[in-house]
Amino acid sequence: MTHSKITLSLLSIAVIGLFSVNLSSKETKKESAAVARTRETVKMLDDVYKTAVVLITEHYVNDEDDLPAGSAAKALFAAINAKGWHKVEILDASGEPYNKDNTPKDQFDIAAVKSLKAGESFVDKVISKDGKKYLRAATPIPVVMKKCIMCHENYKNAKDGEPIGILSYTIPIK
Ligand code: HEC
Repeated sequence: MTHSKITLSLLSIAVIGLFSVNLSSKETKKESAAVARTRETVKMLDDVYKTAVVLITEHYVNDEDDLPAGSAAKALFAAINAKGWHKVEILDASGEPYNKDNTPKDQFDIAAVKSLKAGESFVDKVISKDGKKYLRAATPIPVVMKKCIMCHENYKNAKDGEPIGILSYTIPIK
């Protein structure tokens, strides 16, 4: 190989290298923009769901026989999940759930309860399932009203602002 041919091939390797670095950083940027958009969606949904639960408890739950907002939320979440929008669950963080089915079971939820009880306000993680990407996320549920204690006696032991439950999300990243 002549000197100029070697220079030329080195040059083209450098150009191809630069090009692919540039492409992959574009891919990463696109991906992190999608994750940021999904995170924003979780925060919007979280506010909507929590506002609804508080409103229902405030206006419609007056004694222990009334349909609790927790049960209304579960019915709403089941319908949303069945329609394929996303998955969201109301789970216990107090160690004494009203309904044992609401005990956090998977690794993400168990770790999320720990972090949220330690004071974090939001946790999330990107996961892949069947070739698709999802954002797993969780937010705290504190004892927002004295009324909550009417049915959940153990909530009186919760420290100020300490979460007694979490909302756990699995949202497709698009
Ligand atoms: C009228 C009784 C009642 C009131 C008031 C009530 N809950 Fe519940 N809560 C329930 C019942 C019953 C369930 C179980 C629902 C199910 O799994 O179908 C539940 C479930 C929950 C869960 C899921 C974990 C578990 O314990 O099973 C959380 C978290 C929760 N409630 C938080 C709250 C908060 C916060 C308030 C106050 C805003 C509140 N609840 C008020 C009856 C009540």
